[in-house]
Amino acid sequence: MSAGAFIKELPELLNTDTDAQQQWLSGYIAAVGDILSHPKYIQMKGFDHHKPVSCHFHSVFVSYLTYKISLELGLDAVETARAAALHDFYLYDWYLTKHDELHAWYHPKIAVINAETYFEKLSDTQTDMILSHMWPLHPRPPRTREGMVLTMVDKYCTSADMLKLSRKFLPLYEIINREIDNYESI
Ligand SMILES: [Fe+2]
Ligand SMILES: [Fe+2]
Repeated sequence: MSAGAFIKELPELLNTDTDAQQQWLSGYIAAVGDILSHPKYIQMKGFDHHKPVSCHFHSVFVSYLTYKISLELGLDAVETARAAALHDFYLYDWYLTKHDELHAWYHPKIAVINAETYFEKLSDTQTDMILSHMWPLHPRPPRTREGMVLTMVDKYCTSADMLKLSRKFLPLYEIINREIDNYESI
């Protein structure tokens, strides 16, 4: 899918009205429900990522689009959605907490460590996705198609955050949060 086609199809990607969309919403929750319902993951609601967008909102937005685009491209959408959900899982307030390295360079590495601490050992593809998502700001380019998808989706969602367009995702974000509230009983 080209970048132009992706942008054109965004309203369709975010639509939840049809049976097909409901099906892949269910598929998405099945893929990442254990991550999104984890207390450490929910902590990200308290961290501004692109003010006033929280790290949680941004991560779910990126993960959801990565899931759908991966299905379109025939990639392993469970693997990619999980890595995308964890790509900014750095768990600190980057406006207040400083490290020896710039946040843009530091946070992918700590996201990998946190992902493997609280969830599972990442595949090589998932590790590549997270470590390269800041490319080209960070000089490490993606080495996989999955990594290229994530870095493109992350740029798209970041631009939407900055332009205050990501509120288009808000209705779906609220649906996902309601599903996650009931995740244990599914
Ligand atoms: Fe990031
Ligand atoms: Fe991001």
